[in-house]
Amino acid sequence: MTEETDHGQTPATQGSRIDAYVDRYAARATGMVASEIRALFAVASRPEVVSLAGGMPYVTALPLDMVGELVSDLVTRRGPVALQYGSGQGDPHLREQICEVMRLEGIEAGADDVVVTVGSQQALDLITRIFIDPGDVVLAEGPSYVGALGTFSAYQAKVVHITMDDQGLVPESLAQTIYALQAAGNTIKFLYTIPTFHNPGGVTLNVARRQQVLDICQRAGVLIVEDNPYGLLGFDGEPMRALRADNPDGVVYLGSFSKTLAPGFRVGWALAPHAIRDKLVLAMESAVLSHSSFTQLAVGQYLATQPWREQIKTFKELYRERRDALLNALTDLMPTGVTWTRPAGGFFVWASLPEGLDSKAILPRAVAERVAFVPGTGFFSDGSGSRQMRLSYCYPEPDRIREGVRRLAGVIEGELQLRDTFGTASPPGHPGVDTPGPDLA
Ligand SMILES: Cc1ncc(COP(=O)(O)O)c(C=O)c1O
Repeated sequence: MTEETDHGQTPATQGSRIDAYVDRYAARATGMVASEIRALFAVASRPEVVSLAGGMPYVTALPLDMVGELVSDLVTRRGPVALQYGSGQGDPHLREQICEVMRLEGIEAGADDVVVTVGSQQALDLITRIFIDPGDVVLAEGPSYVGALGTFSAYQAKVVHITMDDQGLVPESLAQTIYALQAAGNTIKFLYTIPTFHNPGGVTLNVARRQQVLDICQRAGVLIVEDNPYGLLGFDGEPMRALRADNPDGVVYLGSFSKTLAPGFRVGWALAPHAIRDKLVLAMESAVLSHSSFTQLAVGQYLATQPWREQIKTFKELYRERRDALLNALTDLMPTGVTWTRPAGGFFVWASLPEGLDSKAILPRAVAERVAFVPGTGFFSDGSGSRQMRLSYCYPEPDRIREGVRRLAGVIEGELQLRDTFGTASPPGHPGVDTPGPDLA
């Protein structure tokens, strides 16, 4: 017997693809659809596939025994605190330690201005929640971080992309876009930027441009949201000075322990001017009451007792070797006409295919050849990026990276032959935002 709901529809049965509540969702949920490439990525996680798609940190490089001891010791010694609710703003001692971490990027801040969040992804959500009404404009580099675009879309923001080149965000493009939008009566709520070791662009905003971006935004009254999870993972020299270091009132800074320690703790943070911080704490409480005391204290304990700066060095060495493996393989194996960025830190290379090729359309063939990447369209909110792809080097071993590039180069070579014979290669993929799962973000 089928059961009817009070609105006369049969509820979806378990496993059914029919959604009886399809007409009940809020307008903001209509854009929340899993892309067709998710299924492909499920295949891509098989061991025989070299995944240049995922953005997963190589946590195996952590001294896992030590982490285990630390966690066990935490429960034994401080269980009643670690297993209890905490404050909405986050553990005060951890917030002090976060200020010490940020000092490496020139930021002088007090623990009172830090809000601990469930990864920097939650900080992004909270910032968007407190600033965005449907239709408000957010500026973001084109391409931009897929997880941020998903959040902006969930709150019905209108994302306007700013051009980027190999030195990062182009200040002239920023100034012109702000001018045009404001002249047309738009409210720009903030500029979302990843200035250092960009995901997915792999580029870094140079020093001169940093000041220009700060000046342009200050003059136009545009708040900057600086997302910086990779800032301490530079391969050469000292960390770049954060934008926030030179404008405490005009920048909300987002940080994370996901790449310098481990994403499984889900500990990130926002550093914000007082008034914004107050709203963030209230939004945090309404979202989750308080962050996990347990993981906050575990991260605090790690920072207090372990050589975390040395661990970051270990990660940097490892990622540098993999970056080199990827760049060398691209140089040696890719057909003429394919270009790519040369990251000085972080996890990602952004590659562009020759005219007439579509990265989403060739993904199924690449996966069949046992290599995966993320097509470029997922990193834009306006359908751009069809000739681009993100290649990540953070997870596979160097020889696997080379093998992956060899397979990918073969696929692209085949596509080029098709294009040269028939005029176009594979038909383009479906339009729409591609939202890979968290392991690929
Ligand atoms: C640019 C950027 N921002 C934010 C995040 C979210 O990181 P988390 O929530 O793990 O701190 C990521 C993760 O890949 C990222 O690349």
